[in-house]
Amino acid sequence: MTSLKNDTFLRALLKEPVDYTPVWMMRQAGRYLPEYKATRARAGSFLDLCKNTELATEVTIQPLERFDLDAAILFSDILTVPDAMGLGLYFAEGEGPKFERPLQHEADIAKLAVPDMEKLEYVFDAVRSIRKALDGRVPLIGFSGSPFTLACYMVEGGGSKEFRTIKTMMYSRPDLLHKILDVNARAVTEYLNTQIDAGAQAVQIFDTWGGVLSDAAFQEFSLKYIQQIIAGLKRENEGRRVPVIVFAKGGGLWLEHMAEIGADALGLDWTCNIGEARRRVGSKVALQGNFDPFALFGTPESIRHEVERILSGYGSGSGHVFNLGHGINQHTNPEHAKILVDSVHELSRQYHK
Ligand code: CP3
Repeated sequence: MTSLKNDTFLRALLKEPVDYTPVWMMRQAGRYLPEYKATRARAGSFLDLCKNTELATEVTIQPLERFDLDAAILFSDILTVPDAMGLGLYFAEGEGPKFERPLQHEADIAKLAVPDMEKLEYVFDAVRSIRKALDGRVPLIGFSGSPFTLACYMVEGGGSKEFRTIKTMMYSRPDLLHKILDVNARAVTEYLNTQIDAGAQAVQIFDTWGGVLSDAAFQEFSLKYIQQIIAGLKRENEGRRVPVIVFAKGGGLWLEHMAEIGADALGLDWTCNIGEARRRVGSKVALQGNFDPFALFGTPESIRHEVERILSGYGSGSGHVFNLGHGINQHTNPEHAKILVDSVHELSRQYHK
């Protein structure tokens, strides 16, 4: 394997000295880029694009051609895992992801099992192909959903505003939800380890919906299972540590708890103050975030100002990976994304002397 030409991202996650703050953007490959839309049209659909090794590689690289990013992220989706469990993932136009066979009956839940990783071979093929295409330019991030966030889609059958179905299960039949979460945690552990074997150099666990839970429920139904996954992950490959990032949207209240589960870094959404977050987690973990994705709808000046506010809020020293607090919106002007990336690089040098 070729050695990395730019390992700033991996070094920042391990709080090792860096010359500037590295940056990547959640959902950096996506519909705000016209070249992404063109490739997706060639593939046919979003799922066809995920399953086409050559085109998935192409869209992963697209944002790196436009912006000076410090990491690439595998082009795929968190819902590939429940799809491989047989739930039948599809994307209804304008409605987001849906499952043909949501998990709502006890008999179906009893049958749920960790899928054969061969069903996800297209994901591992994409990891190998992207590593080859990157040729050591920047590290490649692999990812998965958290057991609870996956369960939200599996039980609700798609996106949700109130999470009534899964919360009904959680409060009335917690045993059923625990069964789903246990299978998900084992599946995600195997899925991430296979991504690491295929060449993922860091992994991120997305807990997009943990923040809808009560304090007690977050610990019992989300955090515990993320901790179980981390305990089972391969932490070194190709002679280097493979850092683990945990991102729980709306999880700012629980940073101290999240810092205790063995992750190398925590993702922050835009609602928390990054300086306070740093003080709260101490030296236990690095932080990633926390630019509001909608701040990209401001002016070039306001974007630079917001970048500076976050960089100075974090302060001097390593341990910060700049990122958005959630995925980039599809209506974002790509020129504004470029201003973000360039100003992070330019303005952060003063904090790494
Ligand atoms: O960051 C990247 O560039 C890598 C690719 C990536 C996608 N999804 C591609 C995608 C990643 C890391 C994800 C993660 C993901 N998927 C999450 C967790 C992160 C988050 O945003 O909270 C979740 C909850 C999903 C499930 C999912 N997939 C939803 C809710 C949607 C629809 C939302 C939307 O933006 O339309 C998807 C589809 C999806 N996944 C798209 C992309 C580029 C858009 C599909 C398209 O091209 O039409």
